[in-house]
Amino acid sequence: MNYARMTKKQLIAEIEKKDKRVIFLEKIIEFLIHDLKRFILSIIGHSKKLHRMYENPEGPKASMASKIIEIARYADRLIEDSIALMESGRNELIVEDFTLSEIITTLRTLFSAKMKSRDVELLVPNYEIKLQGSKSEILLIFLNIIENNLKYGGKNLNVIRIGYKETPKFHILTISNDGAGIKEEYREKIFELRERDKNTSDSIPGSGFGLAIVREFAERHGGTAIAKSDGIRGVKFVITISKNL
Ligand SMILES: Nc1ncnc2c1ncn2[C@@H]1O[C@H](COP(=O)(O)OP(=O)(O)OP(=O)(O)O)[C@@H](O)[C@H]1O
Ligand SMILES: [Mg+2]
Repeated sequence: MNYARMTKKQLIAEIEKKDKRVIFLEKIIEFLIHDLKRFILSIIGHSKKLHRMYENPEGPKASMASKIIEIARYADRLIEDSIALMESGRNELIVEDFTLSEIITTLRTLFSAKMKSRDVELLVPNYEIKLQGSKSEILLIFLNIIENNLKYGGKNLNVIRIGYKETPKFHILTISNDGAGIKEEYREKIFELRERDKNTSDSIPGSGFGLAIVREFAERHGGTAIAKSDGIRGVKFVITISKNL
C-alpha cells in the first residue's frame, strides 16, 4: 500500500478500516485469553484431584500429576502477564499515595518462606519513603525483579537489597543482589518480550515477560528501568519514577 500517494480522504478511510481490524483482533484475543484461562484452571483442578487419588504422594504417578499442575500454573501466569501488558496500554494510570514499606510488607509475605529456605536476606531502607503512582504496578515491578533474583541468582545469592534515592524530579528505586551477573550483551535485551539470557536461565522455566512488564510499568510512571552488572557477580536494577504524575 502506497500511503504517500493517497488523498486525505483515502488515508482516513484506511485508518478507520485498520482501527476496526484492531478492535476485532483485540476482541478475539480477549475471548481466547478468557477461555484459555478457564481451561487451564480446569486442568489444575483435575490434576489436583488426580494427585490425591495416588496413595504415594511422592511416587512417579503423583509426581507426573504435580508436574502437570506446575506447567499449568506457568501457563496461567503467562496469561495473567499478557493481560497486565494489554491492559496497561489501554487504561489510564491510577495515581495514589503509598509508602515503600507497604510494598515491602507484601513482598515479605510473598517471599519470606522461599528466602528463608534459600538463606537469602532482604535488606531495606530503615526510614519512611512516600511514593505516588499505581501501587499495584509498583508492587508488580518489585515482585518480578525479586522473583527473578531468586530464580536466576544461583548459589552465590545471599542478599537482596532495596535502595532509594531521589532527585528533584524522580524517585530512584534500586534492587541489587550478589547473585549471578548478567553479561553486557543481554543487559538491554532482557527487557524485551520473550528475551532470556541463556547463561542464567538455562533449564529454568520462564516466558520472558517479567522484565517487559517492569519496563512498561516504569515508563507508564514517566520513568525508566535498566539493569547494571559487571557480568560476573551481582545485578542492580534501577527503576526511576516521575514525581510529577
Ligand atoms: N536477577 C537476575 N540475575 C540474572 N539473570 C536475570 C535476572 N533477572 C533476569 N535475568 C535474565 O533475564 C531474563 C528475562 O527475565 P524476565 O523476568 O523478563 O523473564 P523470565 O523470568 O524468563 O520469565 P517470566 O518472568 O515471564 O516468568 C531471564 O530469563 C534471565 O535470563
Ligand atoms: Mg521473570
